[in-house]
Amino acid sequence: MFSSLCCENKVYKNLVNGQWIDSNTGNLIEIFSPVDDSIVGKIQAMSKKEVDFAIENAKEAQKSWRTIPVNKRAQILYRAAELLEEKTNDIAEIMMREIAKDKKSAVSEVQRTADYIRFTADAAKSMEGETIPADSFPGFNRSKISVVTREPLGVVLAISPFNYPVNLSASKIAPALVAGNSIVLKPATQGSISALYLARVFQEAGLPAGVFNTITGRGIEIGDYCVTHPSVDFINFTGSTEIGKRISQISTMKPLLMELGGKDAAIVLEDADLELAAKNIVAGAYSYSGQRCTAVKRILVVDSVANVLVKKLKFKIEKLKVGNPLQEQVDIVPLINVKAADFVEGLMKEAQEKGAKLIIGGRREGNIIYPTLFDNVTLDMRLAWEEPFGPILPIIRIKDRDEGIAIANKSEYGLQASVFTKDINSAFYIADKLEVGTVQVNNKTERGPDHFPFLGVKSSGIGTQGIRYSIEAMSRPKAIVINIGD
Ligand code: NAP
Ligand code: G3H
Repeated sequence: MFSSLCCENKVYKNLVNGQWIDSNTGNLIEIFSPVDDSIVGKIQAMSKKEVDFAIENAKEAQKSWRTIPVNKRAQILYRAAELLEEKTNDIAEIMMREIAKDKKSAVSEVQRTADYIRFTADAAKSMEGETIPADSFPGFNRSKISVVTREPLGVVLAISPFNYPVNLSASKIAPALVAGNSIVLKPATQGSISALYLARVFQEAGLPAGVFNTITGRGIEIGDYCVTHPSVDFINFTGSTEIGKRISQISTMKPLLMELGGKDAAIVLEDADLELAAKNIVAGAYSYSGQRCTAVKRILVVDSVANVLVKKLKFKIEKLKVGNPLQEQVDIVPLINVKAADFVEGLMKEAQEKGAKLIIGGRREGNIIYPTLFDNVTLDMRLAWEEPFGPILPIIRIKDRDEGIAIANKSEYGLQASVFTKDINSAFYIADKLEVGTVQVNNKTERGPDHFPFLGVKSSGIGTQGIRYSIEAMSRPKAIVINIGD
């Protein structure tokens, strides 16, 4: 099944108008594994002219795709989920090499994605329109009624990040397709190969030519062209706040759905179950080496219980396995590239120079950063505010819950936060005041389950994802008003 998208000399092609094609430019980008620097494959650096061709094909194909009944579109999604599940190990293996994901997480990403696609098909079939009689508005009688259905938007440009190349591509593609849109997928360059496997799965599931097209090439070269293309009707982006802001500045009048960076706080109160808090914080902060938008990225703990929490955290962090995901099941994997590891190292150094207390970690070997915990982090340190996207966690001691809320809300980000307390009133008091999309009570910050709303406020995003929410975001109401009589 995968032979069409690759593989002479490991050169991968793009899916455009139902065909797997090479770029005419002959320009290839080599993708090296963050694990051992071996070459995973080469992808096409498409020219703007080729990008244009892909987008125009998507525009044309959408005209007939929108007329296909929802139950038929759903059938294709069910088939894609089935094929994806069958190919779990192949795709997980590619992800392990391309983005250094550990095996358990890579397999779970593929399976979660199959579940996501199936649930999306189910959700679309059960979505209904509405009829609104006019007489509820002052001055109107029953001589008018609005019949409201949902319409697709047209061509959806899906731009995905490196850390979930399959799941964060599919969570844009499946809702867009089932709503009747066509798709142009621009995956992260490091992550493209995994995403191309996903594209092949959708094609094999029976999508008509042109309904799903892929674009590869560096964002810095073709990104601006894609997001300002006149035939793109909607942009669904996940990635850094920096790129998200750029897209929102230049893509005039295009509707956007964006999930961006975060600095999720875990607020731990004096009455918290500290064992539960420590377990969740360690799992939340260090899985996939902290390269998750929803990773716990700072601890705000009430001073009176901080020493006990630190001891428990250290005990659990010591047990994390660091190493090569291609050789064994590990918790801490190499970061995606040298630049990412340099950035995290810079944050560590600055925190230490300014007096933060290193509890554990602080070491680097190549792109591996050992799981690191700093206590007594103060608000003048970059580590208190910046998103490391690495396995490094600051503890900021607070005197009470109000100080925790104030520091949490001072962040430019507002993705999620956790509150650990046994007092439900305190949990609600804090949750009510936090400027974030989601507050987790007595749990780590995390996106799933995938039918929950998932959103960031402030610099963490625009709009709401989550299966039904994403379908709604990528469709619009269409009102047909029936006027009865004179
Ligand atoms: P990134 O550097 O912002 O890249 C994201 C995507 O944007 C990639 O496909 C990239 O392509 C593309 N891109 C780059 N420049 C562009 C431009 N000018 N126009 C259009 N697209 C452009 O992010 P990343 O390094 O992949 O992911 C890490 C960041 O994403 C972190 O900040 C993290 O918090 C955030 N993230 C957020 C969520 C969430 O749900 N909130 C989820 C995952 C990640 P190239 O790879 O070719 O540059
Ligand atoms: O990296 C961003 C993802 O949306 C986080 O998803 O909480 O399931 O790891 P997750």
